[in-house]
Amino acid sequence: MDRSWIGHGPGTTTNAITKSPGTRPGFFRGGDTLIDMNALFATLAVAAFAIQPAAPAPPPSSHAATFARYAVAADHHLASAAGAEILAKGGNAVDAAVATSFALAVVRPFSCGLGGGGFMVIALPDNPRTPAVNDVVRVAIDYRETAPAAVGPDYFSKLAAERPDASTRGGTAAGIPGTVAGLLSALDRFGTLDRAVVLAPAIRLARGGFAADRAYMAAAESRLRLYEKDAGYQKRFGFLWRVYLREGRVALGDVIRNPDQAEALELIARDGAAAFYHGAIADAIALAVQADGGGMTKEDLAGYEPVDAVPLEITFEKRLFLTMPPPSSGGLALAQTLGILERVNIRQYVGKPGAEATPQLMVLVAEAFKHAFADRAEWLGDPAFVDVPTDKLLSGEYLDARAKLVDVSRTHGPEYYGTRGIPPKDDGGTSHLCVIDAAGGAVACTETINLEFGSMLAVEPFGFLLNNQMDDFTTASGQPNAFGLTQSDRNLAAPGKRPLSSMSPTIVLDESGVVKAVAGASGGPRIITGTALALLYALVLEHPAGQAVAEPRIHHQWLPNVLEVEKNFPGKEGGLPTAMWLRKLGHEVRTPTRECAVQLIVRTPEGLQAACDPRKGGVPAGE
Ligand code: DON
Repeated sequence: MDRSWIGHGPGTTTNAITKSPGTRPGFFRGGDTLIDMNALFATLAVAAFAIQPAAPAPPPSSHAATFARYAVAADHHLASAAGAEILAKGGNAVDAAVATSFALAVVRPFSCGLGGGGFMVIALPDNPRTPAVNDVVRVAIDYRETAPAAVGPDYFSKLAAERPDASTRGGTAAGIPGTVAGLLSALDRFGTLDRAVVLAPAIRLARGGFAADRAYMAAAESRLRLYEKDAGYQKRFGFLWRVYLREGRVALGDVIRNPDQAEALELIARDGAAAFYHGAIADAIALAVQADGGGMTKEDLAGYEPVDAVPLEITFEKRLFLTMPPPSSGGLALAQTLGILERVNIRQYVGKPGAEATPQLMVLVAEAFKHAFADRAEWLGDPAFVDVPTDKLLSGEYLDARAKLVDVSRTHGPEYYGTRGIPPKDDGGTSHLCVIDAAGGAVACTETINLEFGSMLAVEPFGFLLNNQMDDFTTASGQPNAFGLTQSDRNLAAPGKRPLSSMSPTIVLDESGVVKAVAGASGGPRIITGTALALLYALVLEHPAGQAVAEPRIHHQWLPNVLEVEKNFPGKEGGLPTAMWLRKLGHEVRTPTRECAVQLIVRTPEGLQAACDPRKGGVPAGE
C-alpha cells in the first residue's frame, strides 16, 4: 500500500519533509540496520551496569517547572528524567523523545509500550544529517498499529457471537505494533546519539524497577475487576496477572521490575528494529497472538512500515500549528475547532491575560467541538484506503459556514452538526510526551496500546503487552467503540489499514518559526478536546503552563450528545455556575467518566514552562 501522498491536504506544505537519502519519499523502512559493534559494546556495558537494580527514587512533587535551556514533559517523572538525561549528554529533541518513549514503555505499561503504536511530530531548526545546509526538519511520523492480513471489514462482526470482546481483549484485538519501527526510524534519521545510549535509561528502569503510583493503581484496579469477573483470565492473561497485578495484591509503592522486557530492549539496542520485526521477538509475538485465537503472522510483522507524512498545518492567531494528519482525527478536529473559534471571534470572550475562562467562551468551544466531532464520525479513516476530504473540511468556505451555525444562546441536537445527520443505528492507555531541546528543536509524541494494559495479552518471553487498537476501527457499523465514539464505515478494518485515532501531537511555531509550544494528551477522544483547551488556556488566556494543564476542562464528542464538565469549573453567568448555565442553554451536562492527561511546554520570556497533567501524576525534567 503506497501511503506516500498522505498528509498533502490544504494548508500543508509539500516540501517540508526532510528525506533521508535512498528512501522513497514518505515511505521508508526504519531501523533494521546491520549489527553495529559500537552499539553492541555500549549495550553490554549498559547491561552490566543494570545488573544491580537501584531502588527507585521517590518522585519529585511538582507537576510544573520552568527551565532555561531544555525541557521534557512526560506523564511519568522517570520518563521525563530519561529524556533530560539524554539532553544533558548532548542529544537533540529526537534522541530525548525516543529515550523518553522507551522509558515510558517500561514505567507506563498500561498506557503504551513495545506492543503499541503512535504518532510523532518533529520540528528541528537543522537536519543533523546535513549540518552544512540550512535544512529544517518538519515531519510527522505515523507508526500506528496496522490490521493484520487476516482482518477484513467483517472480521469482528463474524466473531461477535462467539467472542463479543474480540476487538478489546486478547490476540484478535491486537494490531501489528509500530512503536519500535517508528521510534528507531526517527532516531536513525533525525537523532544524533547511538541507539544503545538512547535505550540505556529504559533498560535500567526495566531491570531496576519503578514504583506503582496512583495512575498505575487506577489502571491496575480497573483490570483486576475484569479478573474477578472471568476466572479464565488468570491463565489466559497470566503475565499481566503475575508481573503487573501481583496476583491481585499489587499495592501503591510496589516496585515493578521486568527483566524480560530489559532483554527485549537490549536486543533492540543491539540489532535495531530487525530484532523486533524478525527473529525471536517476532516469533514470540505471532505465537502469543495465534495461541489466543488471533490471526497476526510473522509475515505481517516483517511487512510493517512506519510512514512519513507532512504535518497538518493550522494557522491560528498568526501562529503555525504543526499537527498530525489522518489516520489521526486529532489534527483535523483541532484545525476545525480553532478555525471555527477564530471565525466567531473568540477574543470577545477573553478577559485580560491570565483571566479565567468565561462561560461564554466554553459555549463557543463546546459548539466547535460538536461540529468537529460530527465530521470526524462521518468522514475520517485511513487515507491510504478511503478518500478523506481534508481540503473540503478545512476550506475557508466550509469553516465559515460551520461558524455561522454557532449560536451562543443555545445548543442543538446532534442532527444540527456535521453534514449527513446522525448515522442510522444499523449503519454503521495512551501517553503523550513533549520535548524542546537547547537548539530549539521540538518533538510532540503520543503513543498508545489503547485501553488500560491494551489487549491484556503479553508476549511473555519478552515482557510486553500487545495493544487492542483494533477497537479503534468501526467494528460493527453504527455501534460506538469503547470510548463511545460512533464512526462511519470509512473506518472499517481492512488488511494493512490503520484505525482512526484521536492522538493529536502538536507543535506551535511563532511568526518567526521559533517553537512556542508543544502539546498533546492521552484519553481517547478527550485527547482532542484536552489538547485544544490546554493550548487555548496557555496561548489565548495566557495562563502559565502548569495552570493550563491542571484547570478544569469541558468535553463534547457530538455523540453521545452529552457535555462533560469537570468539577469546579470556574465562572458564573446569569447568576449561575458555568455547569448550570450550560444546562440552561440545552446541554445535558455530566461529570466525565474517563480522564484526559495533557503534557505541555510553553516558551515564555522567563524560560520553558513545562507541565504534566496532575490527573496522571507526571513531573517534567530539564535544565
Ligand atoms: O488512538 C486513539 O485515539 C486511542 N487508541 C487512544 C486511547 C487512549 O488515549 C486511552 N487513554 N487513556
